[in-house]
Amino acid sequence: MCGIVCYVGEKEAKAIVLEGLKRLEYRGYDSAGIAVQNGSEIVCLRAVGKISELERKIGERVIKGNSAIAHTRWATHGEPTERNAHPHTDESENVFVIHNGIIENFFAIKKNLEKRGIVFKSETDTEVLAHLIALNFEDSLGEAVRKTMSQVEGTFGIAVIHRHVPGEIVVARRGSPLIIGIGEDGHFAASDVSAMVRYTNKVVHLNDNELAVLTAKGFSISTAQAKTVTRETETVEWQPEDVELGGFPHFMLKEIYEQPETILNAMRGRLEPGEGVPKLGGIMPVWDHLKECRHIEIVACGTSYHAGCVGRYVFERLTEIDVQVEIASEFRYRKLNFPSNTYIIAISQSGETADTLAAIREARRKGARLLGIVNVVGSSISRETDAGVYNHAGPEIGVASTKIFVSQLTILTLLALLLGRHQKLSLTEGVEAIKSLSELPEKVKKTLSQDNHIQAVAEKYYPCSNWLFLGRKYQYPIALEGALKLKEISYIHAEGYAAGEMKHGPIALINPEMPTVAIVPQDSMYEKMISNIQEIKSRRGPVIAIATEGDDRVRQLADEVIEVPPTLEYLYPILTVVPCQLLAYHCARFLSRDIDKPRNLAKSVTVE
Ligand code: AGP
Repeated sequence: MCGIVCYVGEKEAKAIVLEGLKRLEYRGYDSAGIAVQNGSEIVCLRAVGKISELERKIGERVIKGNSAIAHTRWATHGEPTERNAHPHTDESENVFVIHNGIIENFFAIKKNLEKRGIVFKSETDTEVLAHLIALNFEDSLGEAVRKTMSQVEGTFGIAVIHRHVPGEIVVARRGSPLIIGIGEDGHFAASDVSAMVRYTNKVVHLNDNELAVLTAKGFSISTAQAKTVTRETETVEWQPEDVELGGFPHFMLKEIYEQPETILNAMRGRLEPGEGVPKLGGIMPVWDHLKECRHIEIVACGTSYHAGCVGRYVFERLTEIDVQVEIASEFRYRKLNFPSNTYIIAISQSGETADTLAAIREARRKGARLLGIVNVVGSSISRETDAGVYNHAGPEIGVASTKIFVSQLTILTLLALLLGRHQKLSLTEGVEAIKSLSELPEKVKKTLSQDNHIQAVAEKYYPCSNWLFLGRKYQYPIALEGALKLKEISYIHAEGYAAGEMKHGPIALINPEMPTVAIVPQDSMYEKMISNIQEIKSRRGPVIAIATEGDDRVRQLADEVIEVPPTLEYLYPILTVVPCQLLAYHCARFLSRDIDKPRNLAKSVTVE
């Protein structure tokens, strides 16, 4: 996804926005650019490739100015080239604009402007914004942007400066997140808070169809209809070190090792051990209605979808509620016919995933009530749901989601436990559940202690071009997640499959060159998984088993065994996913992949 960073204040702006841009690298991009304003002078530089290329271009140039906008581009219209990189300008180079999103009617606008003699310099949709703002500009940049908002369709998060309006940055959003940061020496705007967390943790979220005018001294927010908006300042919990590597070679590994703390953060202040009942303050606004709910639909994408798939089994184990899970991009096209009193649970780390946002908006139209399980406070999904539970996991910088998945499973379990204890779950079962949840951080640490062994397994099998991941019931979604992790950061082809489906086709694939990761903890599916392992071994397929510690039977059968401590059946996924994450990580390292920023991927997919 594109990244936007802006600053206007008392300090020199160039270094601040370049630093902020680096914090957004994890979002994925292919070019970058910056525009620094000093009075009526604006210096604009753009480069293809990494931010280091842009810095190389800047070189030793002294670029003065207290106001700047900077951008990382993830190409949607036009190749990743310098002329397509942002900022884009009008013909007279008075207006400089950076943009995240897609202008859906840009082609018609472009044709119309070309008829008026305007010559375009790029293939991008964004450039139409620069020309329209210039045409709309009389004496107020804010009004010119407001008028332009009414002329374009599609999604945008934009930042604009004008040669003749020094010391002012106008930002606006529709469908692409933008956050205002309130610093001691000036004001920021960015696509997400990690770009500014070194300078401030005081933020204000912009809503769709709103714009803000930022100056060194302050900011004002108004709607597309010019109605003034006042909005509470929020304090984010993230600290600067959260966006630092902290001695790890990659953010992904740091975040895998953060998981014990992540589970603690997900449960902090939310357990009533004596009563066997969690406390989830975020859903109390709808609790009287939610506790009567008997139908839930979970919608999410990618790893968050896999968390929802585990959640479905957990809800069925702990509650009397019927739970369905649907990929968000499919959900919105279904003929939605909810039973009354249906809740939709949207799971999203970023809270900005376009498919998930579109799904809950469609569900809202059909009368469903909405809950969110979201990590980013104040994100669009968190603000468009009726209630929800925050992960409190801090920023997840690695594109491949790891700690958030474990946090999502923890929160789904807490939610199911809370509902279950208001249905048929006994005090004893509730107390046992909370005790077992509280033991998980130490059990994850114990699993992490096998990292060297897991690295050795990865070293043996990373040259294999195809992998299979198998699991049953609670472990089937872990097979899907393990395959996704391996695919997305090592680029090795991998399939996650319900182990029971092996005999219906995939068993034809088994061969000595294709490792199968069999997720076989000592749970209710154990014997059937043992049979699957035997089927694979009898066809000379190598088996990497993820098993309960001390399982000699698996040790005799499998080629490799990675152990996890014992726990309750419905909590095993929080442990068995960790070896999958580390296998993927080490394979990617041996293949020298760009682990935190895998090719073609973005951390938050805010386009459909
Ligand atoms: C997972 O490793 C990927 N980064 C991706 O599948 C991600 O889970 C998906 O895009 C959903 O993102 P969200 O949780 O921010 O909605």
